Amino acid sequence: MSETYNLTDAAIKIIQDRRSIRDYTDEPVAEGDLDLILEAARQAPSGENAQPWRFIVVRDGATRNQLGAIAGGGSGRRFTAEYVTKKMQERFTTLDDEEKKKAIFEKLTSGKVSTFLAKAPVNIVVCGKKEVWDLPYDTSAAIENMLLMVTAIGLGACWVIAPCIDIRDEERLKALFDVPEGFKVISIIAIGHPTRPHKPRPRMERHELVFDEKWGAPYYEEGS
Ligand SMILES: Cc1cc2nc3c(=O)[nH]c(=O)nc-3n(C[C@H](O)[C@H](O)[C@H](O)COP(=O)(O)O)c2cc1C
Repeated sequence: MSETYNLTDAAIKIIQDRRSIRDYTDEPVAEGDLDLILEAARQAPSGENAQPWRFIVVRDGATRNQLGAIAGGGSGRRFTAEYVTKKMQERFTTLDDEEKKKAIFEKLTSGKVSTFLAKAPVNIVVCGKKEVWDLPYDTSAAIENMLLMVTAIGLGACWVIAPCIDIRDEERLKALFDVPEGFKVISIIAIGHPTRPHKPRPRMERHELVFDEKWGAPYYEEGS
């Protein structure tokens, strides 16, 4: 066990350093690095050890372009729905600069925020066996393992669900990757070398998240 405890600092650092990275250099991802990332996925826990995941490694430029286009379409439709239902406006109530807000809304509803998949040197298409009850949890565990390994080896990745939400896009993905009946496309993981360091996105405070014995009783003091 002593070896395990010696790794604590490394483990928390990797977890805290992970970011969603959406811009990559042209440098390819080394095969050895991909092996580590895929091994991390393979070792994830799954309900009843069902291991319902399958992974398609996509490096071909033309296929990546198609993936980017499908993601852009799905993302544009999702954000347009958020705009029409006013969910998007609620997210940005604290932003007073109307011009800036308009530009953000335009960028989001255009779908351009998700076309970066085409630029990632590698996309891992995560598929899953539909009949497995715990499928979303199982695949999420495998994906998080991959994201942490990506961070550990100095690469950057983003978990992307945009092209998998709309059933029409999912059908397009299934056709693009020959995914058989009985399996669905769960998410895409875009991976590459980050172009720059990224700031962490904000997180809720510990006292807002963790309760002591019963819901609502603070486990952590505010500001601790
Ligand atoms: C289930 C899930 C789906 C996500 N889908 C997308 C996506 O479609 N496009 C995208 O750019 N980021 C996506 N993300 C990344 C989140 O936007 C990101 O994790 C969040 O903003 C927090 O930022 P961080 O990962 O840098 O801490 C997704 C993350 C998760 C967990």
